[in-house]
Amino acid sequence: MDINNFIRDNVKAMKPYSSARDEFEETADIYLDANENPYSNGLNRYPDPYQKGLKQLISEIKGIPVNNILLGNGSDEVIDLILRAFCEPGEDNLIITPPTYGMYKVAADLNNINIKESLLNKDFSLNTENLISKIDRNTKLIILCSPNNPSGNCMAKEDIISVLNTGKLLVLDEAYIDFAEGKSLLKELNNYPNLIIAQTLSKAYGLAGLRLGMCFASQEIIEVLNKIKPPYNINELSQQWAKVYLKDARKNSERKAKILRNKEILYKELKYLNCVKKIYPSDANFFLVKMKDARLVYEKLLKKSIVLRDRSNQPLCDNCLRITVGTEPENEKLIEELKKL
Ligand SMILES: Cc1ncc(COP(=O)(O)O)c(C=O)c1O
Repeated sequence: MDINNFIRDNVKAMKPYSSARDEFEETADIYLDANENPYSNGLNRYPDPYQKGLKQLISEIKGIPVNNILLGNGSDEVIDLILRAFCEPGEDNLIITPPTYGMYKVAADLNNINIKESLLNKDFSLNTENLISKIDRNTKLIILCSPNNPSGNCMAKEDIISVLNTGKLLVLDEAYIDFAEGKSLLKELNNYPNLIIAQTLSKAYGLAGLRLGMCFASQEIIEVLNKIKPPYNINELSQQWAKVYLKDARKNSERKAKILRNKEILYKELKYLNCVKKIYPSDANFFLVKMKDARLVYEKLLKKSIVLRDRSNQPLCDNCLRITVGTEPENEKLIEELKKL
């Protein structure tokens, strides 16, 4: 695969911004190169534009070399960078598979990239035949979400592979994959140079407020994204805090295990409720639940200060609420209120 066939012409032609920290990477005694305030307060210096220390740690955790990693201000930034690197505005299109995460369409609309939609099957699996039939000469990207938001299920590996075999760039959003042991396609990166995987520290790692998204791809793709990213897109505090959190592997896996235990209990409780018609299988930290009357449940719970996500207006999600797994007391309170309905 020649990545040059995918990169936008203006991106190919442009010279990236060269920051002071790009031009001098060694350590020195005196830094008078970046117009910073010289008085130390812990944050007076610009952060490392390539986040080497943090990437090293992520590399060890994920088993992916540093040169195959790009970090973004949340995976939302990662997705936006990918669109801007590869899709020619007003000309190229990308394919998404509704119902899915809403930011793909927002990012495409913002960048004036045409969207094609291939609806998932009723069980939220990929309709690969339909998806592949939507590909035309202007299709640059396909974005899949696994586990999918809002349905919660992982896409079948063989379906993802058949999309990869089209040779188009495939962005696989694995935001919730840490809840789905053994289902990541990270190991396929070596086999498919057209595969780009997005993950995040916002979900299983509990760092949504930090804004740290991860992109794993071939070195060539990572180089293009590095070329166009804002030089200091990950601030110093985020880099520091992420390192502290990621080093505490035991606490991280304990918290994740707790969420998975709570998820099982929540499932058992939801199953017997009168207002619930169906709970869709979930590989994530939430359930998509078909209600008898979703709006009524949503509004009644809101009055009790409990907020769920009403997904009823999404395709295939008629009368569906998305419920995140909370703490034990939060889940108990939810069930208590649902029983009263
Ligand atoms: C599928 C999916 N991808 C990406 C994101 C955003 O992740 P981040 O917080 O890293 O921007 C979300 C957030 O809800 C999501 O559901």
